[in-house]
Amino acid sequence: MKEKSIELLNKAVADELSAVHQYMYFHFHCDNLGYDLISNLFKMTAIQEMLHVEKLADRILFLKGEVEMKPAEEVKKIHDVKEMLLLATQMEQSSQNDYNLWANECSKNADSVSKKLFELLVEDEERHFDQFDTEMENLIKFGDNYLALQSIERSKSRSTGRPPME
Ligand SMILES: [Fe+2]
Ligand SMILES: [Fe+2]
Repeated sequence: MKEKSIELLNKAVADELSAVHQYMYFHFHCDNLGYDLISNLFKMTAIQEMLHVEKLADRILFLKGEVEMKPAEEVKKIHDVKEMLLLATQMEQSSQNDYNLWANECSKNADSVSKKLFELLVEDEERHFDQFDTEMENLIKFGDNYLALQSIERSKSRSTGRPPME
């Protein structure tokens, strides 16, 4: 029971680390282009994925396992915002599928605490999916104007001395 849970929890750590790296990469690029709203969403989500790593690591250590800090995937060097959002929604969906399966597996192995942890993570990943999906819909609906408006908003706040969005 213990070994299987540690293996699944470490697979989730790998997944979460990939998400942290990928979303921070998207954050830097969107920030560089002045797209404050989307850049901020990537940053906030990366921080939440980092907190997922922490929860998973706590559980692995409790089970007396070793935390393998290896990201599952290399960062994909995507610079187009629509493609960023597409990859982000795919990543969130695949995490949801995996965590649902792994929750069931932990339950079969009589490890209800790891099961509950996976279920908690699924809730967060569903919310992340929804946020990225909404941004994708806005981008499709409003086109490049949606991004242009974010750049203009930043320039406006800089010219008036207001602090930019954190
Ligand atoms: Fe996550
Ligand atoms: Fe997520």
